[in-house]
Amino acid sequence: MRIAALCGSLRSGSFNQALLDAVIERGPAYGLEVVQAQIRDFPLFNQDLEATPPAAVEETKRVVQSADAVLLVSPEANYGVPGVLKNAIDWLSRPPHNPTLYKRPMAVIGASTGFLGTMRAQLAWRQMWHFFDAPVFSGAEFVMPFARNLVDADGRLVDEGTLTRLDAYLEALAQWVMQCRATR
Ligand SMILES: Cc1cc2nc3c(=O)[nH]c(=O)nc-3n(C[C@H](O)[C@H](O)[C@H](O)COP(=O)(O)O)c2cc1C
Repeated sequence: MRIAALCGSLRSGSFNQALLDAVIERGPAYGLEVVQAQIRDFPLFNQDLEATPPAAVEETKRVVQSADAVLLVSPEANYGVPGVLKNAIDWLSRPPHNPTLYKRPMAVIGASTGFLGTMRAQLAWRQMWHFFDAPVFSGAEFVMPFARNLVDADGRLVDEGTLTRLDAYLEALAQWVMQCRATR
């Protein structure tokens, strides 16, 4: 099973990137090939450019369309979704009902330095996905609060308790993606 993952932070030393790296590393144990779909080179969305989307957008669309599901690895910004990732989703959503996100199963996880670990952002993403008429994974949840304490100096997620929770999440996610594939 193939998952296309989008990271909502571009900074070096990102805790969300550390989380995504752990997902990429641990996914195969559960039958999940996790591929990062890059959004770093997306310009700000401008409908004037929509008819001829930038190459970076086209490439990421191809990666997402090749996947059984999309995974958002999202920070929380001001109790909501981060603009960088929202901008990317807006690009990928155009034209409406194109097969990139429309009806594609979605899951969301995230890391933050706060104590709710992106739960508010995750709820906002889930509400947004209503538009894409797609199943959203609800069988398990994964948040990574106080992320600063869980990642080492090399930017690796090293906290054993967090990794154990992540493994349980990935196991449940893999079962769900398999079910989605069977019914698609
Ligand atoms: C503009 C901005 C808004 C933020 N808002 C929140 C927030 O609402 N909730 C929260 O838990 N952390 C918030 N933070 C702190 C982030 O959790 C923290 O910067 C985290 O490291 C971002 O993820 P990253 O390490 O992957 O870049 C905010 C940070 C920034 C820069």
